[in-house]
Amino acid sequence: MSENKTISVDEQMRREFNQWAEAGRGEEMEQHHISITQQTLALMGLRPGQRVLDLGCGAGWASRLLAQLVGGGERPGQVVGLDVSDEMIRIARATSTAYDNLLFVVGSAEQIPWEENFFDKVLSVESFYYYGDQDRALDELFRVLAPKGELYILINLYTDNPYSLRWVDGLQVPVQVRSEQEYIELLKEHGYQDVRAVRVPDLTPTPEEYSGKWFKNAEELRDFKRIGALLLIARKPDVVSPPRGYELS
Ligand SMILES: C[S@@+](CC[C@H](N)C(=O)[O-])C[C@H]1O[C@@H](n2cnc3c(N)ncnc32)[C@H](O)[C@@H]1O
Repeated sequence: MSENKTISVDEQMRREFNQWAEAGRGEEMEQHHISITQQTLALMGLRPGQRVLDLGCGAGWASRLLAQLVGGGERPGQVVGLDVSDEMIRIARATSTAYDNLLFVVGSAEQIPWEENFFDKVLSVESFYYYGDQDRALDELFRVLAPKGELYILINLYTDNPYSLRWVDGLQVPVQVRSEQEYIELLKEHGYQDVRAVRVPDLTPTPEEYSGKWFKNAEELRDFKRIGALLLIARKPDVVSPPRGYELS
């Protein structure tokens, strides 16, 4: 049995993404995800004073954008970046010292180290399909969201963008592969309301020549970007979650 089968998915992710971080890929992801993330931020209706979780924050570039958007005002908002990779978090902290409303925490989406009913919004960029137990992550997100809080899950890997499926075998870690419709059903099953999906195209220019390994040519890459990422939006109903281990009678 390979070692990967005897360690938890979270530990596999920690090791894999620590290597990405050490290779400088944490910061590099900004250029790959910035277009779809900026379009998502524009939909989030962020205001000074709000509390936001950046789930699977990597090197923290999106957390910093969030901190700017909710900072200022009489009561500056607060952003928490959470990631299972301690090396990503180390880099995020080292590059974000100028922000006093931004905190980075090591931890898993499957056991979010935060209190109940806290966050007004959650953003998660290109992270959700790595979670070994997406059901548990959705329950945890429900718990830490404030009543009427909103969830924004942005992913490039889903079955309705067939190009993205090429990554599944090439990645060194297991991933979850679902369709837009399956994700919508999953969110509803976990008690979320106003569940909807938006396609977010990558609007960055594509060079005439493509020399990477995932696409046959620049035309395919353009098509992948045109189909775009899947943005799942959902709202926690106006209910207060009990602390972990307790149930409201
Ligand atoms: C492709 S990277 C994206 C990082 C960042 N959001 C960005 O766009 O640059 C995926 C991130 O998800 C994190 N991750 C994977 N599984 C996780 C889990 N169970 N809980 C929290 N973070 C996780 C990884 O450590 C990694 O930093």
